[in-house]
Amino acid sequence: MSAEASPRYTNIAIALHWAMAALLLFMIWLGWNMDDNEVRYQLHKSIGITILFLALARLAWRFANPPPPLPEGMPAYEKTASHAVHIAFYVLMIGIPLGGWFMVSVSPFQVSTVLFGQVSWPHLPFTDGLIGKELYEFVANIHGKGAWVIIVLLALHVAGAIKHELAAEDGVLKRMIPGLFGKTSPPLLPARGALFAFGGSLLLFAAIAAVPLIGAGGAKPAPASAPVELAGNWDVDYSQSEITFSGQHEGNAFNGVFGSWTADITFDPDALADAKVHAVVDTRTAKTGTKLYDDSLKSKEWFNVAEFPEATVDLSDFRSVGAGYTATATLTLKGVPVSVPLNFTLDIAGDTATLDATAEFSRKALNLGQSSDPGASWVADAVAVNVTGQAKRKR
Ligand code: HEM
Ligand code: HEM
Repeated sequence: MSAEASPRYTNIAIALHWAMAALLLFMIWLGWNMDDNEVRYQLHKSIGITILFLALARLAWRFANPPPPLPEGMPAYEKTASHAVHIAFYVLMIGIPLGGWFMVSVSPFQVSTVLFGQVSWPHLPFTDGLIGKELYEFVANIHGKGAWVIIVLLALHVAGAIKHELAAEDGVLKRMIPGLFGKTSPPLLPARGALFAFGGSLLLFAAIAAVPLIGAGGAKPAPASAPVELAGNWDVDYSQSEITFSGQHEGNAFNGVFGSWTADITFDPDALADAKVHAVVDTRTAKTGTKLYDDSLKSKEWFNVAEFPEATVDLSDFRSVGAGYTATATLTLKGVPVSVPLNFTLDIAGDTATLDATAEFSRKALNLGQSSDPGASWVADAVAVNVTGQAKRKR
């Protein structure tokens, strides 16, 4: 090797270069192989946002640590071509994930994004009015084409690197290889600006990730439509009672529970004609144990908790059936009432009543997830609701 071999990139630039090259190629493969599988979509979005973060940090790093000069013997037009490819790579490494983010924000599906199953990632601001199929498909098309542009540029980029490694100028490829060659390795440049590059990008991304949290904290409390004075003859023991729901997503069972609700119960087994129950459920408190489901349930498509923080359930037409009872349950969700039969058993021992009730709802009838999955290909139509609990007779 010649004595004037140019210095190498910094270790951080080298690490970012290879890590991002691997991630980008994996992402292109993943994009082509998502097979309508929600786990893969979420992974694609998670790694894509990670690439956006790394690209911004890498750009800032490059600003603080300019690349080592290209070998002197390299023709000017080749230097220009190499720079042009690098600039285009940066445009794509930022533009493609930004486009993906924009696309999911305006998608009629309105699927929530939870990065690596942990961090709720908001949609881009000011995109509410743009939601629609045409714009989504237009951007998705460009997004997919962007992957092909990466592939074409990569061919040029690799050809250039190999040509210059083999040709007289020497050392171009070594500039981007970690220091594996001991003394023969060209010198590293001193590195600076890590805090600026990584700290700055981290702050920006943490601020974006904090938006959904701030939104949740600032949401208006549910209006107190629950009767202040309960008229019924039973006091529910909420610590012993639960409203749960269960269904299927992509063939896997999911279960959830509503954390907060109140019920006003008038019930006497000997006067079923007068029995009534009015329950108010805080839809914001639905929890499934999976962040993606919880975020999705809160979104417009499902419970739309920003506009409808509560649902009501009214029971009427009580009849005794065998050892138990049946009633008509009218669930009013997002302002639309839907009635289904509710079957329950009630054991009254002294002043304590123990309830076990089940009803099955059609999420389509309740207008849940109707634009993202009207055919129930992902989330099964049937949702079972189970209520168990205890109540004490009022004195
Ligand atoms: C550099 C990062 C990314 C690369 C290289 C990439 C690449 C791809 C590719 C190759 C496809 C398949 C396109 C096709 O079938 O024609 C795709 C689809 C998709 N990507 Fe990305 N993507 C990236 C980042 C993102 C991000 C950050 C998001 C969202 C936050 C996203 C959301 C999507 C979605 C929703 C689709 C499906 C589009 C459809 O309906 O066909 N992508 N991506
Ligand atoms: C999608 C994959 C890739 C992308 C996006 C990419 C991107 C880049 C970018 C932006 C630079 C400029 C330096 C910087 O700002 O960090 C660069 C330099 C370099 N890349 Fe890649 N690269 C990829 C894959 C590869 C591969 C597979 C090779 C192997 C031959 C390679 C070899 C090099 C070399 C030798 C340099 C230094 C060239 C110089 O300073 O002129 N890259 N790459």
